[in-house]
Amino acid sequence: MSSKIYDCIEMIGNRIIENKDFLTELDREIGDADHGINMARGFTEVLAILPKDSDNIGDLLKKTGMTLLSKVGGASGPLYGTAYMQAGKVCAGKTALTAQDGKAVFEAVIAGIQKRGKAVKGEKTMLDAIIPAFEAYSAAVDSGASVNDALDAMCKAAEEGVEYTKTIIATKGRASYLGERSIGHQDPGATSATYTMQAVRDFIKG
Ligand SMILES: Nc1ncnc2c1ncn2[C@@H]1O[C@H](COP(=O)(O)OP(=O)(O)O)[C@@H](O)[C@H]1O
Ligand SMILES: [Mg+2]
Repeated sequence: MSSKIYDCIEMIGNRIIENKDFLTELDREIGDADHGINMARGFTEVLAILPKDSDNIGDLLKKTGMTLLSKVGGASGPLYGTAYMQAGKVCAGKTALTAQDGKAVFEAVIAGIQKRGKAVKGEKTMLDAIIPAFEAYSAAVDSGASVNDALDAMCKAAEEGVEYTKTIIATKGRASYLGERSIGHQDPGATSATYTMQAVRDFIKG
């Protein structure tokens, strides 16, 4: 039998792999048409190398990050690689996570992505899904909402973040070469980040 953390990462990977063509199409509009290909290649390798029966959350997240770093390439490889490795550090030795741990994971993920990519909110990147999702999740957890409600709030904010990326100019990454012509297009990285969070929600909600 596989562990819960393996099953959760498998759900994320499958969601990315199923949406490979769409992610690549989005990147064709404002980049170089490889985001889905890159991410699917990375997660195919992740699912092949992760130990299925280990319930060491920190270890599996760290291995996921290292694999994405070496297999994905482009801008998103180092960014997602760092995100999973930082999440792994927060979860070192853990075999279960609380709602509060979820906040610490988000904080580490955002700090890692920002340290690598130097982007802030509003630059049409994955952070435009991740930061609002973190804010909504934290606000829900802090107000005493159930985990399921906090996860729904997280995904709603991420989905709104993706919509918001259509309205703004890219100022980081390849899409920034397009300047104003990037308006009207949804950011591929914000989209894959939202698939990630939807998969986590669906996994936890069962
Ligand atoms: N500096 C950055 N900070 C955060 N995310 C970024 C940054 N640069 C690019 N991205 C994200 O990476 C995505 C593109 O990934 P990908 O196509 O795999 O890499 P590349 O642009 O090198 O081809 C973008 O849609 C954006 O969300
Ligand atoms: Mg690309």
